[in-house]
Amino acid sequence: MKKKLEILEAKKAEAQLGGGEKRIESQHAKGKLTARERIHFLLDEGSFEEIGMLVTHRSTNFGLDKQKFLGDGVVTGYGTIDGRLVYVFAQDFTVMGGSLAEAHAEKICKVMDLAMKNGAPIIGLNDSGGARIQEGVVSLGGYADIFYRNTKASGVIPQLSAIMGPCAGGAVYSPALTDFIMMVENTSYMFVTGPNVVKTVTHEEVTAEELGGASTHSTKSGVAHFTYANEIELINNLKRLLSYMPQNCEEDAPALAYKGGDETIAALDEIIPENPNQPYDIREVIEGTIDEGSFHEVHKDYAENIVCGFARLGGRSIGIVANQPAFLAGVLDNHASIKAARFVRFCDCFNIPLLVFEDVPGFLPGTDQEWNGIINNGAKLLYAFSEASVPRITVITRKAYGGAYDVMNSKHIGADLNYAWPSAEIAVMGAKGAAEIIFRKEIKESTNAEVKWREKEAEYAELFANPYSAAARGFVDEVITPSKTREKLIKAFKMLENKVDSLPKKKHGNIPL
Ligand code: HXC
Repeated sequence: MKKKLEILEAKKAEAQLGGGEKRIESQHAKGKLTARERIHFLLDEGSFEEIGMLVTHRSTNFGLDKQKFLGDGVVTGYGTIDGRLVYVFAQDFTVMGGSLAEAHAEKICKVMDLAMKNGAPIIGLNDSGGARIQEGVVSLGGYADIFYRNTKASGVIPQLSAIMGPCAGGAVYSPALTDFIMMVENTSYMFVTGPNVVKTVTHEEVTAEELGGASTHSTKSGVAHFTYANEIELINNLKRLLSYMPQNCEEDAPALAYKGGDETIAALDEIIPENPNQPYDIREVIEGTIDEGSFHEVHKDYAENIVCGFARLGGRSIGIVANQPAFLAGVLDNHASIKAARFVRFCDCFNIPLLVFEDVPGFLPGTDQEWNGIINNGAKLLYAFSEASVPRITVITRKAYGGAYDVMNSKHIGADLNYAWPSAEIAVMGAKGAAEIIFRKEIKESTNAEVKWREKEAEYAELFANPYSAAARGFVDEVITPSKTREKLIKAFKMLENKVDSLPKKKHGNIPL
């Protein structure tokens, strides 16, 4: 037995080394951790249980039989984060560039299947040169086996993807099918075709960083929801993100203890400027409402005219969607609609109540918006809110104009409670534009057009630039004092905590993609 134990220990030691010491050094030289180091920092100490450490590939193509590494370039298993079960796979770039082939894919599928059966999140730490070229179609098949599982798991368990190195070719589609993508600045990139292919096909010269680095995907494409300066920062924030989510779609997110006594926030009474066209930062409203320091913003640098993120209110996890008057006056456009729709759907999948702060002058006009599908994209957000069955509350802080009033979680599309601050203006459009259209003839025919216009504008504003017409019809449930917003919302979400709502029986809806 002693000898057999020695053999086992030797194999374990060999597996720990991945592609070897030199390759580990080269990984560190690039400012990257190894797969095992990443798992070490991610999971609670001593909680990791590895699965499939001794798996090797079975290919003999191109001399691969002489290049076998225990684990086949991916470390897989389970452990805990803050005491909660998670499944994890971490690709090992030191083994054939973390490339994915048959055995490597089987290992990932195995932990994904376990995660689904046991209702716990799956976390992928991606660092791979893509499909292992020498194994041919089995590599492609391996990817498809993963994509299929990503899709089946969507909405059942949270799936998080951390991109810690290259992620090229079809390999990007597994992360893209998951709920959140996080990237490390300067050491990770994602693209379907790399700079060389781009140059050959389009003659465009672009670096890997410009084409698919963290900054590109967090600001231009919106593919990355979070970016961080280094891997440790990413790992710490991944753990924080997970703390807002339940283990699966059958459960609620864990709540923190809440003592109370901090419900009145006087500063909120001073936030809205006297001039309705002057911007203010909606994050101040968010921060003044939620539990201190609990805001975890998603897609911070993308479509900044809408702010989305997780927070806690009275200890409970909520999702926030808020128009941002400090950026493009808070208009809804293509990117903002898509960003918010995706976030709303995540929250709804995982029983996270939704809070909306509304200050929106409408949809952004123009050919760019129309030609890029604002009709479809705005409809995505409308659909996402309409379909969401979690507790839903809206607070209109200032403007709620036009179609955007309907879209932003209005009573008409199923919100449970709609509050407005006294500064709310709920109308088809702003008073100036409205007066110009409906009183055009009168203004034109008057002796002093300017004075007439202002008079008509004031008349319209008197009627509509307030929350009282909407409140009189019950579209707004209550006009509240801003400083009491936190108190109202804590009580309201508590009242809604056992909400049960269901959609008509169907296979699935047909969201305008
Ligand atoms: C096999 C691979 C590999 C791959 C890297 N390696 N990618 N082996 N298949 N796809 C190996 C290298 O041969 C090398 O082995 C080691 O990993 C490290 O690679 P380097 O090139 O030395 O590292 P680096 O300079 O950091 O460059 C990393 C890289 C580059 C940018 C990722 O390796 C690269 O461009 N690889 C190919 C990327 C790619 O085109 N993949 C296929 C995408 S198509 P040695 O033994 O020399 O150290 C795809 C289809 C999926 O993925 C379809 C799903 C639908």
